[in-house]
Amino acid sequence: MKFKHVVVLTGAGISAESGIRTFRDQNGLWEDHRIEDVATPEGFLRNPDLVYSFYNLRRAQLQDPAVEPNLAHLALAEFEASHTARGGQFTLITQNVDDLHRRAGSRNMIPMHGQLLSALCTRSGLSHPWHGALSASDRCRCCDTPQPLRPDIVWFGEVPYQLDNCFNALATADLFISIGTSGKVYPAAGFLGVAQDAGAMTVELNMEPTREDFDQGYYGPASQVVAEFLNSLEDQAG
Ligand code: NAD
Ligand code: APR
Repeated sequence: MKFKHVVVLTGAGISAESGIRTFRDQNGLWEDHRIEDVATPEGFLRNPDLVYSFYNLRRAQLQDPAVEPNLAHLALAEFEASHTARGGQFTLITQNVDDLHRRAGSRNMIPMHGQLLSALCTRSGLSHPWHGALSASDRCRCCDTPQPLRPDIVWFGEVPYQLDNCFNALATADLFISIGTSGKVYPAAGFLGVAQDAGAMTVELNMEPTREDFDQGYYGPASQVVAEFLNSLEDQAG
């Protein structure tokens, strides 16, 4: 087997063709909203209703039948199944908060920026599955206190989930693939360097190059380039 541990980092670009807006592209979410209003703990304290409604809209979008995993999500799940069946290791780290990787069938996945379909108890720190609208009047399912539940999203200035697991995976990666992320937000933006230090081959799959130090880059819509690249790996694996 050419690569024993394949680590993939995904960002908003992989879900763009499923109808979910990215953050920083033209028509991205941050064109219509100030990050400090909707994606910081301070913004939530200042105007919780605005923050609830921003994420309620995005959570509701996931129920739209037109929003479904695209060929890139599906290709990653298929690759994981065949690579692990051959005895390889596969880790998917996603910055996305949608559920499209899970719906596509990905298994060993780290949603480092949280998940739209869960709510976080601000008292216990526990996450609970949450599919409908969330508001300040919703009671927590674990401690039933008036303490508010908040969207289970890692905001700016907060520490992403499972960072230890991310770094442990990167330390043993021999292939690192970055898909559909601008690489502007740390610590995820630093994962390329960590993988390089571990000696991994590094590949970017994106609509356009984001930097010059990947070993290889393939550019175009994720629904095409991800499947093509993973198929070429399968061919090499025989
Ligand atoms: P910071 O320096 O305190 O670090 C941000 C931390 O929060 C990082 O650990 C990051 O991983 C994490 N984080 C929390 N919520 C996140 C989320 N929803 N998405 C991504 N990462 C999240 O915070 P900062 O200085 O406010 O911002 C970090 C970086 O983001 C900076 O480099 C900044 O330039 C950039 N930024 C970009 C925009 C924009 O694109 N319009 C706006 C604000 C900040
Ligand atoms: N196929 C492949 N790549 C695409 C496509 C597509 N169809 N459409 C857009 N892209 C690429 C863009 O070229 C860009 O490089 O996806 C990237 C999207 O970048 P961002 O909008 O910055 O999204 P992301 O990198 O995921 O943002 C990181 O910022 O605010 C936070 O929490 C948020 O997790 C998010 C983090």
